[in-house]
Amino acid sequence: MRKPLVMGNWKLNGTKESVTALVNALKAPADKAAGKAEVAVCAPAVFIGMVEQLATGSSLKWGSEDCDIHTQGAYTGENSPVMLKEFGCTYAIVGHSERRDYHKESSEYVAQKYQAAQANGLIPVLCVGESEKEFEEKRTMDVIRSELKAVIDLCGIQSFEKAVIAYEPIWAIGTGKTATPEIAQSVHSEIRAYLATFDAAVAEKVQILYGGSCNAKTAPELFAQKDIDGGLVGGASLKAPDFTAIIEAAVANA
Ligand code: 13P
Repeated sequence: MRKPLVMGNWKLNGTKESVTALVNALKAPADKAAGKAEVAVCAPAVFIGMVEQLATGSSLKWGSEDCDIHTQGAYTGENSPVMLKEFGCTYAIVGHSERRDYHKESSEYVAQKYQAAQANGLIPVLCVGESEKEFEEKRTMDVIRSELKAVIDLCGIQSFEKAVIAYEPIWAIGTGKTATPEIAQSVHSEIRAYLATFDAAVAEKVQILYGGSCNAKTAPELFAQKDIDGGLVGGASLKAPDFTAIIEAAVANA
């Protein structure tokens, strides 16, 4: 049985005040969910130290929104997986569509980030997903298979034993256009089937999250789908009551 995971991705949002209030408000729901569902927040790097101080001792885990391929050196502006680990991160999101798009990150480069995160004790959360045009052209699985294949080629299928996948259709991110539970379930099940062509046991075990306008209203039906193991939540993760409702939806389907 796969344990559900609900993860917030704060993106470029937050103030010292809002982060303090949000983390404090999420500790009790995370503690209540413990044992049934895992709860985590991925924060902008400048806030990670604060999140560590606020969340330590609770069941709330935290992570970064990205991670560099290097552990140290002359790479201005980057955040090393070693540093992220030192600040208690459990997870590192890699390959979010906003980074693939705005920062021109290729699937091969994302695979290197995934590898660096894993090599330094972080659990990579590998984001995959198609654009609206690719969706309309029915190329969803071609896109996702090539994004997954880059990681399999570099790190091997067994690497997914210590990783999370997030399916985020780009057309659903921040648009209010959630993929229907049927569409999401069918893509999740095809992702699992593709991984199973390499290793069936790994495919069965890996958590596959859904992301893209996942909110308090859409989460219950999404999380009820057989191959959806929780959510990667943007906008709705910034509001404690909404994120708490999403956590409760995951617990209800655990
Ligand atoms: P929204 O939940 O705001 O659509 O964002 C989804 C996302 O990109 C999470 O990584």
